[in-house]
Amino acid sequence: MRKLFIAGNWKMNKTISETVELVNSLKREVSDIEGVDIVICPGFTSLSEAADLVIDSNIGLGAQNVYWQEKGAFTGEVSPMMLKDAGCKYVIIGHSERRKYFGETNDTVLKKINAVQSVRLIPIVCVGETLEERDNKKTIEVIEKQLQDGFKGINEDNLEKIIIAYEPVWAIGTGKTATPEQAEEIHKFIRDWIQEKYSLDLSEEVRIIYGGSVKASNAKELMSQKNIDGALVGGASLESQLFVELIKNSL
Ligand code: PGA
Repeated sequence: MRKLFIAGNWKMNKTISETVELVNSLKREVSDIEGVDIVICPGFTSLSEAADLVIDSNIGLGAQNVYWQEKGAFTGEVSPMMLKDAGCKYVIIGHSERRKYFGETNDTVLKKINAVQSVRLIPIVCVGETLEERDNKKTIEVIEKQLQDGFKGINEDNLEKIIIAYEPVWAIGTGKTATPEQAEEIHKFIRDWIQEKYSLDLSEEVRIIYGGSVKASNAKELMSQKNIDGALVGGASLESQLFVELIKNSL
C-alpha cells in the first residue's frame, strides 16, 4: 500500500519570517493528520530555520534544487551535503521551471539523482510535457525519454527511493488542471514503464504524484485515481489554510 505524499513547492516565495509564520501555522493544523507524508520545500535561505521548526512534527523538509558536485568552485550552487546539513530529507529535481529557465536536462537530472542518493536524500523527480508536445501527440514519447534518460543506470533499490512527480507543464501555475483521467493515463504509463524496465513489485512500490494547479477543490478527485499517490503543490501551498484543506480533502 503506497502512502499518500503531499509536498508544497514554495518556489521563490517567503522570507525567513514569513516561513516561520507559515510553518508554525501548518504545524498546528496538521499535527493530528495521519496517513500522509506532508512535506514543505521552502527557498534555500529559509531551510535551516524551517528545519528547526519541523523537528518533532509530522512535516518533512525538502529543497527545490541542488547541484551534483560534492564541493568546490561552483559559485552560487548548493551541494547535497549542504542540504542534508540544513535539515532536508527531500529535494525536488528536474522541475519544469528549472528545465525551462535554467537549462536543466535529463542528463543533469540523472547526475543530481545519483548525487543526492549518495547522501541519502530522497529525490522528487519531475517529468511532464509542454502544451505543444501534448497538442502534437508527443506526450508519451516525451515522458518516456525523460524516464529513460533521467533514470539511466539507476538500480531497483535506488528507484524505490525516488518519488516521481508527473507535472504537465501546461497545468503549472495556470489554473488549468489535467483532468483526473488525463493525469491517470500518464501515471499508469509511468507505472507500466517501471514494471517493464524493472519489476512488477517495484512498480507497485514507487509513489507517483501529480502536480499542476492542484487545490482543495480538485484534490479529492485526483487523489482517488488508482495510480495517483499524492501531489506536488505550488500556489496552494503558500497559505496554511489552503494547503491544510487540500491535504484533508486528499485523505
Ligand atoms: P502549481 O505549481 O500548483 O502552482 O501549479 C505546481 C508545481 O510547479 O510544482
